[in-house]
Amino acid sequence: MNKQITLAQRPNGLPKESDFRLAESPVPTPSAGEILVRALYLSVDPYMRGRMNDVKSYAPPIKIGEVMVGGAVGQVMESQNPKFQKGDIVEGFFGWQTHAVSDGKGVRKIDPNLAPISTALSVMGMPGLTAYFGLLEIGKPLAGETVLISGAAGAVGSMAGQIAKINGCRVIGVAGSDEKVDYLVGELGFDAAFNYKTTEDYFKKLKELCPDGIDVYFDNVGGALTDDALKLINVRARVCVCGQISQYNLAKPEMGPRFLWKLIERRARVEGFLVFQFADRYAEGLRQLAEWHKDGKVKIREDIVEGIENAPRAFIGMLEGRNTGKQLVKIAEAG
Ligand SMILES: NC(=O)c1ccc[n+]([C@@H]2O[C@H](COP(=O)([O-])OP(=O)(O)OC[C@H]3O[C@@H](n4cnc5c(N)ncnc54)[C@H](OP(=O)(O)O)[C@@H]3O)[C@@H](O)[C@H]2O)c1
Repeated sequence: MNKQITLAQRPNGLPKESDFRLAESPVPTPSAGEILVRALYLSVDPYMRGRMNDVKSYAPPIKIGEVMVGGAVGQVMESQNPKFQKGDIVEGFFGWQTHAVSDGKGVRKIDPNLAPISTALSVMGMPGLTAYFGLLEIGKPLAGETVLISGAAGAVGSMAGQIAKINGCRVIGVAGSDEKVDYLVGELGFDAAFNYKTTEDYFKKLKELCPDGIDVYFDNVGGALTDDALKLINVRARVCVCGQISQYNLAKPEMGPRFLWKLIERRARVEGFLVFQFADRYAEGLRQLAEWHKDGKVKIREDIVEGIENAPRAFIGMLEGRNTGKQLVKIAEAG
């Protein structure tokens, strides 16, 4: 049987396990041009929270009763598509289910000899590409500049910080626990980091850790931290708006201070981006990320829970900050 996690109801605030349902249906059969994929790892990501709301966005909302969307790594069980063979390890947008049929569009083959296959959902996957293009194309960091990263111990943040270090920057991270702060500084080589949950005055802390101001702010979080970070941006600073996770579970958007005058004074740029806008350059990004990973220049921790029935719990835990690095759900071993 195909086990699927569907959307049972739209969440109000932080999702609850009862917002999801575990459903079963017969394993689908691929038609001409299609493949049947058995899931090995599922990705749980913050953007899925947005897709659970019935609002217009860059992607349509998930309907009630539909399978949760998401990236996955799986193995081809049956192929009616000449581009894929039985046994191939692939990455694609297969959703939260143990089996999926796909026409192969947007599906890439993974070489299991190059790196653990789960890395196709982390360092050599969407989070790695988000950090790579977001930081380098939107942030354009220069050696010696100060780069601030919020949500720094997560999948995207931890990668963005390491890429900034590779580019010779001074990197400051913000994360939600002392263990995460130790991980950033002790294991990933950030120059400094602080725990926003135990810091009362963000502005004071940021000023202490960024004495020369902030040249690039890679923002995954938004909210009060961003309000204070913007007070410290330098002339010609670049603010990369990657995510605003502090706002995703709010029923009403928070009102913030009016900071646009700071952009005038500092002649700074704030730019939002979606990783998909760089789709035609993914091959380049993946090549570079794979090389850095092989040379040990970028590391990622993968937080793995087992079993599709635990995907909702893993997703909720990620929104609560229980993960360090990339949150994944392991479904099965490759055959
Ligand atoms: N623009 C794009 O194309 C794109 C693509 C991928 C991801 N993103 C965005 O990038 C960000 C990170 O995504 P990810 O996949 O790497 O997830 P992640 O950072 O691995 O996991 C989410 C983290 O967010 C932090 N968090 C949760 N609630 C928070 C709050 N109220 N205030 C501050 N931090 C909070 C938690 O860490 P703490 O313990 O530190 O709180 C949690 O571990 C998200 O905002 C996501 O939407 C954007």
